[in-house]
Amino acid sequence: MDVVVAHNRAELVKARGEGRLALVPTMGALHEGHRSLIRTARRLAPQVVVSIFVNPLQFGPGEDYSRYPRTFDADLEVCEAEGVGVVFAPAVEDMYHPDRQVGVSAGEMGTIVEGAVRPGHFDGMLTVVLKLFNLVRPDVAVFGQKDAQQLALIRRMVADLDVPVEVVGEPTVREPDGLALSSRNRYLSAGDRVTALALSRALRAGQEQAALPGATPTLIRGAARTVLDAGAPGLALDYLALVDPATFAEVGDDHRGEAVLAVAARVGGTRLIDNVMLELDPS
Ligand code: PAF
Repeated sequence: MDVVVAHNRAELVKARGEGRLALVPTMGALHEGHRSLIRTARRLAPQVVVSIFVNPLQFGPGEDYSRYPRTFDADLEVCEAEGVGVVFAPAVEDMYHPDRQVGVSAGEMGTIVEGAVRPGHFDGMLTVVLKLFNLVRPDVAVFGQKDAQQLALIRRMVADLDVPVEVVGEPTVREPDGLALSSRNRYLSAGDRVTALALSRALRAGQEQAALPGATPTLIRGAARTVLDAGAPGLALDYLALVDPATFAEVGDDHRGEAVLAVAARVGGTRLIDNVMLELDPS
């Protein structure tokens, strides 16, 4: 069956059927990571809507909104091949009225870690996600864990604002050499791509340290930091953080249980983020 493209809200209303529906919100430039989100969505509901919308609200001044990859025809082929029923691809003017006033605030959690480097990013992201939820009315929505703080904030929004959508997180998909898949990887030169591997290497070092007896957040951060300091000339680190997965507050040495080791850096002109979930020894 051919995928139906809804270019605006009126077409979405026509295309949307009744019954359980899963939404996969994306900004397009679809890759294997998105395919895995779509496959999960298909397991969760008979109807799948993929939204493709490069959301201007979540890009700051000087960020890559205008050059963000837009590959609509290739994205449609991916959706077709993955058995997606509807692609919702609205224009900016259809999503945002010129006199728009109200948006979602990500609160304090939106101002730390990634939010400290990208002020306003999470407010813009949550605003479009809530609008997509209201327009598509999904029962369940699937997001990647690669954007761990985004996923945590969407869960917070759903809990704090009583949004009737189940949120499902999908593991990060990686290249065989460890690089996390990202739509922005296509900006990397061959040399940048080698440099970028320091991110996943650092996270692995943190994971290995966490598996050792007596591992503490200080030791874990240190192990990851050593890799970043040693192996990556040309990499400009924005942050390396070991945080509580629900609040994104830095964890102290008394922390037990799950923690997210998150890293963000610029390689050449490209900004990359990555993270892994760790279990801190409960003993
Ligand atoms: O992760 C993304 O691609 C975007 O932040 C999202 C969730 C589609 C909102 O624009």
